Amino acid sequence: MKSVRVVVRVPAKINLNLSVGPQRKDGYHDIATVYQAISLYDEVIAHFGAPESGITVALTGDYIQGVPTDERNLAYRAAEMIANEMRLTPDISLHINKSIPVAAGLAGGSADAAAALVAVDQLLGADLGRARLSEFAADIGSDVPFALTGGTAIGSGRGERLSPALASGEYHWVLVISNQGLSTPAVYAECDRLRQGREISAPRITDALMHALRSGDAPALGKALMNDLQSAACSLRPALRLLLDVGEEYGALGSIISGSGPTVAFLARDAEHALDLTVALSASGVAGQILRAMGPMPGARIIESR
Ligand code: C5P
Repeated sequence: MKSVRVVVRVPAKINLNLSVGPQRKDGYHDIATVYQAISLYDEVIAHFGAPESGITVALTGDYIQGVPTDERNLAYRAAEMIANEMRLTPDISLHINKSIPVAAGLAGGSADAAAALVAVDQLLGADLGRARLSEFAADIGSDVPFALTGGTAIGSGRGERLSPALASGEYHWVLVISNQGLSTPAVYAECDRLRQGREISAPRITDALMHALRSGDAPALGKALMNDLQSAACSLRPALRLLLDVGEEYGALGSIISGSGPTVAFLARDAEHALDLTVALSASGVAGQILRAMGPMPGARIIESR
């Protein structure tokens, strides 16, 4: 059934494990990752625009600087894909309210694309189903399928192939968001440069991490966090190394750069510990914004439709 206005809420992600294999012929890297969706959300509102307006994107919120509103915006591409599939050239207005920082390793742009797929599917009454939406999602970007599903999941291929992760428990994260983003291709390229001449094995997720997740054991998870892109992100942004150490000094169970960075995620024992950690980090004068978030959270969901 068609709607006139659809609101979709979509979470950010962090990577608890990001193992990077050798570069493939298509330029991507095979990875093995564990994604977790966290309680930091963007909202995409889709409705019909003025006649002949085509697809338009408007942005509001804390993180809109540098975000394109033309066809380079992944949400625009998502809307266009659904319209093409329906053989329509509709006038769709997308309003993205951004609370997920940009170029932060939190898949904010991918989240918007996933939300736009869900919103426009509903707006046009396309009813394409989750499997077809996931195919579109994979064409848009490696992290987009996960933003549709959410929760905790294993990603393989270039990150777009998902399988469920047996996970229990709730996790409390403290995130330090740098004022300046990092480019994902630049971080992958730096990773290749640092590993030049070395034999790179196939990517894999450690048993320790899967075991910690299965048993909901936060201290064990803290120790098992790993990210092959961390050295590359720190090489491009040396201050991150210091930040990772500061969190552990203040009693974080573990610390990790999320995805290609520069966001640093610290794992806390519980909500109170997360608050203590936030206070300690801000008193220490770390550069950047400090946010608290919980995971896992569900993926892109319609929260209003009429
Ligand atoms: O898939 P997505 O468009 O988000 O990827 C952005 C860039 O990140 C790619 O162009 C590529 O340079 C790098 N990338 C990669 N291997 C992956 C995922 C991303 O090299 N598995």
